[in-house]
Amino acid sequence: MNEKQITKALAKARSLLSMESPGLPSGELKAYVQKYFDWAKEHKAMIEQEVPPFYLLDTTALRERAQQFKSAFSSVLQDTGFYFAVKSNSHPDVARTLLGCGFGLDVSSGVELEMALALKAEKIVFSGPGKTHKELTLAAENHKTVTVLMDSFRELENLEKIAADKGVKISAGVRLTTMPKGLWKKFGILLQDLSRFFRAAEACHHVQLKGLQFHTSWNMSPEAQIKFIRKIGRAASGLSEKHRKQIDFIDIGGGYWPEQGEWLTGEGTPEGVLRKALGMDSGSAKRHFRLPSNPIETFAESISQAIQKNWAGLLPCRVCFEPGRWVCNDAMHLILSVVDKKGNDLVITDAGTNTIGWERYETDYCPVLNLSRPSLKEKKCFILGSLCTPHDVWGKTYFGDRIEPCDFLVIPCQGAYTYSLRQEFIKPLPRVIKI
Ligand SMILES: Cc1ncc(COP(=O)(O)O)c(C=O)c1O
Repeated sequence: MNEKQITKALAKARSLLSMESPGLPSGELKAYVQKYFDWAKEHKAMIEQEVPPFYLLDTTALRERAQQFKSAFSSVLQDTGFYFAVKSNSHPDVARTLLGCGFGLDVSSGVELEMALALKAEKIVFSGPGKTHKELTLAAENHKTVTVLMDSFRELENLEKIAADKGVKISAGVRLTTMPKGLWKKFGILLQDLSRFFRAAEACHHVQLKGLQFHTSWNMSPEAQIKFIRKIGRAASGLSEKHRKQIDFIDIGGGYWPEQGEWLTGEGTPEGVLRKALGMDSGSAKRHFRLPSNPIETFAESISQAIQKNWAGLLPCRVCFEPGRWVCNDAMHLILSVVDKKGNDLVITDAGTNTIGWERYETDYCPVLNLSRPSLKEKKCFILGSLCTPHDVWGKTYFGDRIEPCDFLVIPCQGAYTYSLRQEFIKPLPRVIKI
């Protein structure tokens, strides 16, 4: 780095260090903790008769979330389709429950597709980059239920060859790149290539191009989705009428952040990341932060307005959704127990964070509740897993009167990107108990 760049970086660092991310209001935190203590009380007998650790799948919560999501969008848009993003929680009972709520499944690999077929899902979209010959073959063999959301011109060619070999016609859409620069450009084709893609598809008699797809991630507000909806509107006006008429559906992906917002530890905030890099303390374990999100109804209202404004007339088609996190986050909880107590400030649990497959709790704040000694008092204590790594952290505080060996702990709302990221590492994987 030259002097000029260092001066610029220091100014940025100064402004970052002097700001503070918004705190998590203590009333909100307490209400959440109370809600899950109450919930655990209701299910106490069942929880205590099982041997921890386990994942607890709450199918009632899952159904409620699914219904809320569906009604938010179907009350403001005429023609809608809902597909659960299996990658966010790949347990078959999650998919089975959502199929029962009228959802289809959004799969991103052959393994997920096999599961969807085994569950007899009637509406499956298969998206994702780099689909293999074997995966596309499985899709073509199941052309009555699978729509392939193609990721590239090459994939169109491959799918055409496979479908022609099988003598079938398969429905398809094409994914559009939302960020043409950086790592996100790996997904889909550029919007400016859409006409060319339609022309290429005209020569493919076994692939019926019927729709478009895009996905933006981590949306705390509908801004990114609205921005891309506008871009699609502009691109559509450049398509021939024949091609526009081919568009039966536009799948606008998932990426909805739950209303509760993103709860972070001090280390997880932008200023905390910098402090850590500078070798500084990240502050009290009892300080938590929250980046706000929006109710799903706000997303639905703004997205539908953007669709009416930018597509109505031009693209009178079905709008499809692929939510993952929003639907399954609150439907699975982790139940652990304390195996060892090395002091009032450090306990070790039976499970390790291989249960969720990543070092989530160093940066995400997910309250640990002591079900055996419930209290709204938050106490400082390292709650650590039993893996041979110091990064096996569940939390640095807990809610409870005390904490002792054999106590049952719950970490609520661990349904998204945890179960499906679990890994065989040192400790066995917990069972899933369904209620
Ligand atoms: C194409 C696609 N659709 C849907 C999702 C689900 O996103 P979320 O779980 O954030 O709703 C993802 C997540 O990566 C995705 O890549």
